Amino acid sequence: LKRSEDNLRSPICCIMGHVDTGKTKLLDCIRGTNVQEGEAGEITQQIGATYFPAENIRERTRELKADAKLRVPGLLVIDTPGHESFTNLRSRGSGLCDIAVLVVDIMHGLERQTIESLNLLKMRNTEFIVALNKVDRLFGWKTCKNKPIVKAMKRQSNDVRNEFKMRVTQIITQFKEQGLNTELYYKNKEMGEIFNIVPTSAISGEGIPDLLLLLVKWTEKTLVEKLMFTNEIQCTVLEVKAIKGQGTTIDVVLANGVLHEGDQIVVCGTQGPIVTTIRALLTPHPMRDILFINMSKIFYANASLMPQGSYLHHKELKAAQGVKINAQGLDHAVAGTGLYVVGPDDDVEDIKEATMQD
Ligand code: GTP
Ligand code: NA
Ligand code: MG
Repeated sequence: LKRSEDNLRSPICCIMGHVDTGKTKLLDCIRGTNVQEGEAGEITQQIGATYFPAENIRERTRELKADAKLRVPGLLVIDTPGHESFTNLRSRGSGLCDIAVLVVDIMHGLERQTIESLNLLKMRNTEFIVALNKVDRLFGWKTCKNKPIVKAMKRQSNDVRNEFKMRVTQIITQFKEQGLNTELYYKNKEMGEIFNIVPTSAISGEGIPDLLLLLVKWTEKTLVEKLMFTNEIQCTVLEVKAIKGQGTTIDVVLANGVLHEGDQIVVCGTQGPIVTTIRALLTPHPMRDILFINMSKIFYANASLMPQGSYLHHKELKAAQGVKINAQGLDHAVAGTGLYVVGPDDDVEDIKEATMQD
């Protein structure tokens, strides 16, 4: 595979923000699923990765009439928990991403973990977009299901628009206090200098087309160099999980390169480096929602996949993807560390050493 502007990998987008601002609900809204209501205490406890094929994004953004050809194959979105006790998971998530969505509740403005997330993004110089969520909670909001935000705003009463303006102005001031210039994206004439705000509702979907399009366009515009596909594996272990009937598996984010069934890999373990062979490469089985059926068609068309149990098995997977790896001897693997593939010219001993430095 050639490294070129015509061969971009999918950007990785991390969703961050204070607890209960609607991060998981936003993902649910985009996927057409309901993960959020199944969570214990509605609190996200881990990082989950969801892959959105470009076809799906094109479909969701059609109404914005921006159907310029998307140059990335899709978007890998990583959800993170907002609860204060999960600082390490937020940090791990933000460390993986090319771009982030910082979710702010329009009724609450900036909160403690908003600021913590903001500092992580600043520290790593990560591009981000603010989703100003829960606009449907403005008093008197008229639902305009899945509409672009400017269209939805036009349908609102003067009272709703005034409350909206007042809250947006306050929140822009709060960002300024954190040293950041922000503006509603459709008024922003200095993209790059001024961070974009997209008003959204994760319940009724207003602003979701805008958020998706902006994410993809913005990454294509600013991150082409970073998104040029390379064969060099960049892969991080997110979770080490025991699965019934499969033993211990690892959930990884493949940020660059291609993984194959049968690849020899090395991961960091509490009792030394683990050298093993990929027995199965798995991604979650698409759900039965309409959206997912559409998405699964694309999955099958593109990758000759076979459904087996609740996961899809793959012969190979190209970045970026969230992947479950089944292999022997993973019991003591350490989350948050790198995964390495032993190539034909590589010395296993060198790679073992590199692994333990993570
Ligand atoms: P953590 O993972 O715990 O940090 O929370 P979160 O940011 O993922 O928030 P979550 O998606 O769990 O949503 C929190 C609550 O807000 C739930 O009761 C949602 O139904 C509600 N909620 C989320 N988005 C919206 C929205 O756009 N409008 C309204 N009215 N409620 C929302
Ligand atoms: Na929550
Ligand atoms: Mg959540």
